[in-house]
Amino acid sequence: MTGRAATVPAFLEARRSIRAFTDEPVARDALDGLVEAACIAPAPHHSRPWRFVVVDSDAAKRDLAVGMGERWRTDLRADGMAPARVDELVAASHEKLEDAPALVLGCLTWDGLDRYPDPARQRAEWGMALLSLGAAVENLMVAAADADLASCWVAAPIFCPEAARDALGLPEVWLPHALVLVGHPDPAYVGRPRPPVPIDELRAYR
Ligand SMILES: Cc1cc2nc3c(=O)[nH]c(=O)nc-3n(C[C@H](O)[C@H](O)[C@H](O)COP(=O)(O)O)c2cc1C
Repeated sequence: MTGRAATVPAFLEARRSIRAFTDEPVARDALDGLVEAACIAPAPHHSRPWRFVVVDSDAAKRDLAVGMGERWRTDLRADGMAPARVDELVAASHEKLEDAPALVLGCLTWDGLDRYPDPARQRAEWGMALLSLGAAVENLMVAAADADLASCWVAAPIFCPEAARDALGLPEVWLPHALVLVGHPDPAYVGRPRPPVPIDELRAYR
């Protein structure tokens, strides 16, 4: 029993995953604004353990799609998936990346993070950086919605950071972990309805 008034701010409600775009390019000034919004996210020990790569040329989009796609193809084949289905999935992922007007690739680095001699704390430190990248990506997408731009997070690079890095010739210490498609929203796109938040199942008080 809560009986509470609705409290989610409208600017948060306004961010939705939008997966279809018009052909209109996104101005680099606007893309820089989104990255700047990402870079004011909270991060451990006042660090900024992220690097953002804006991919807006057709050649680089293709390189990224192919680099990650080939890694995915290898994994799916190893899972035993039928080759025709593998081809279908990889082709659909190419299309998703190449059709977006711009991609923003969020990378993690050790720059500014603490180092520990033991693997458990080292893992926790990297986990904190990963959490902060999530916060940065949310900032980016909220800023996109505020600028009437569409965005959608794509999971792929977290499964193949090195393949994504090498596809774009990035420095070895930049490890891609998050990808966001950005563009002007296709007005015909109909998103899935957002299910209500079952707050009594998702939070506890002690
Ligand atoms: C870490 C992460 C990975 C995601 N990966 C994908 C993806 O690969 N493809 C996709 O279409 N959406 C992806 N999404 C978007 C989710 O499907 C979406 O956020 C969720 O369905 C809720 O919808 P909403 O964002 O419109 O509120 C991802 C979201 C997160 C946070």
